[in-house]
Amino acid sequence: METFQSLLAKKLSDGLAAAGLPDAGELTPATDARFGDYQTNAALVLGKQRGENSRDVAKKIVEHLGVDDLCEPPAIAGPGFINFTLRPGVVAEKTASLLANERLGIAKTESPRRIVIDFGSPNVAKPMHVGHIRSTVLGDALARIAKFLGHDVIRDNHIGDWGTQFGMVIYGWKNLLDQSALQQNPLAEIVRIYKETNALAISDAQVRESCRQELVKLQAGDKENIDIWNECVAFSMQDFEHVYELLDIHYDIQCGESFYNDRLPGVVERLLKSGIAEISEGAVVVFFRDIPELADKPCIIRKRDGGFNYATTDVATVDYRLDHLKADSVWYVVGAPQILHFKQIFEIAGRQWGYKADLRHITFGSILGEDRKLMKTRSGENVPLRELLEEACRRARKIIEEKNPDLSEAEKIDVAQKIGIGAVKYADLSQYRMTDYVFSWEKMLSLQGNTAPYLQNAYVRIRSIFRKAGESAPKIDELTLGSSAEITLAKRLCQFAEIVPQVLNDFRLNILANYLFEVANSFHAFYEACPVLKSEEPARSSRLALCDLTGRVLHRGLDLLGIKVPEKM
Ligand code: ARG
Repeated sequence: METFQSLLAKKLSDGLAAAGLPDAGELTPATDARFGDYQTNAALVLGKQRGENSRDVAKKIVEHLGVDDLCEPPAIAGPGFINFTLRPGVVAEKTASLLANERLGIAKTESPRRIVIDFGSPNVAKPMHVGHIRSTVLGDALARIAKFLGHDVIRDNHIGDWGTQFGMVIYGWKNLLDQSALQQNPLAEIVRIYKETNALAISDAQVRESCRQELVKLQAGDKENIDIWNECVAFSMQDFEHVYELLDIHYDIQCGESFYNDRLPGVVERLLKSGIAEISEGAVVVFFRDIPELADKPCIIRKRDGGFNYATTDVATVDYRLDHLKADSVWYVVGAPQILHFKQIFEIAGRQWGYKADLRHITFGSILGEDRKLMKTRSGENVPLRELLEEACRRARKIIEEKNPDLSEAEKIDVAQKIGIGAVKYADLSQYRMTDYVFSWEKMLSLQGNTAPYLQNAYVRIRSIFRKAGESAPKIDELTLGSSAEITLAKRLCQFAEIVPQVLNDFRLNILANYLFEVANSFHAFYEACPVLKSEEPARSSRLALCDLTGRVLHRGLDLLGIKVPEKM
């Protein structure tokens, strides 16, 4: 189904051709509703290119535009913007067609790709903490949207389950383990022995050496150490699973770092053979001498002692995803500190694979505490994610107790989870991913403003209209949009199909979040200006239909962000 934006873009292109001009500029939603619904800067771009007055160019374009079937006569504004205002009848017709459209007008992509999304990816022997929210929540929402648009998505959890920390964990396990503490809270006990060993190793060279030996034994496949390692991984996975359950976030595959272990020697061999890697001071290294920003930053893929590292694993991982999973694209949702690492990995992959795979590092900023520093507990530790999410549900429960004490106990539990988890996710997704943001319970759980509870409440209000009416959405083919509030809301709903695909251009979930916020605002303005159940036909059915469509857009939009909506709250 075409959107207004795509229809107008085509008409603009035809108009330019008819005027003997090349394609230029963009057709975008208007920045200010007073000037119309869409605008183009084509005349400005062409005026500049050709050294002509851009208002004159705009006049020429307008003369050749055939947009009467969609718009009022286009207006030229300022230095030469061309503004388009949709005819209300056209909006009504389009909105009516959305009523019958399961996908709310959102077309599937014409070029579906297989996309592996690497997100979340926590490390074993550490609890998941607040720092994992962004990767996990962003990655899940991107996966949902890409899938809805028709891509073939593989969600992969690249768990950090192999690495030097295991030397310490195993040493701690053999020397410091408290069995009863392990029974009670396994992950906490593993974290404790890891930390204590770490502290010991700093001051005691002998402990350091023992840890190193435990690691060597593990890597050599020593049975006892492998068993300990397996147990630690299993305990960690239990903690992760609990968090994923709370978040309702799931993976298709969980190929952690250890999965690639036996491929690493082959990777290094191949890179040496093809000349991409070379031996330097006993290590195997890839140099990027021709890339200025990487020229002095070589990537070691086999250390002098013969050990492999994080980079080796990631090279093997790219190979697996391209070769075995047949991915066209791989998206890495990983924080900004790893920018250099991924530049190196992508360059190595490019040399090896002829730069045909589309590899993206989707980075993000940090979550800050109220003091604007990295969020920590009072004692300076990372805030465990599980506790944070449980607190979100507890706080949401309080809101429900005040707002709607008559809900049953089962409903309260369900609604509190939807609001609490939704609030945490939305606080993240509604921010531009690169900006740091302050984690504030008060703000994210507020029923006012750009928050999940506000959007959920708008949805709940719509549902209660239908409950009160005792009827479901009317089946109508025509809408009567009598007031400006109705037209504004209808136009917004038509934009849903323009917004969703746009999210993937630069992986900006905040575009969708902010759009939904505007839908809810337009709905509230409509609801205040226009009685629904008490109005006469045909307005009554038309308004009920608008309510229904708004509810469906909010429901689908929030679902694409991984946020659930309650029927009551
Ligand atoms: N486990 C890593 C960390 O916590 C993130 C892994 C990201 N994915 C990857 N393929 N390197 O930093």
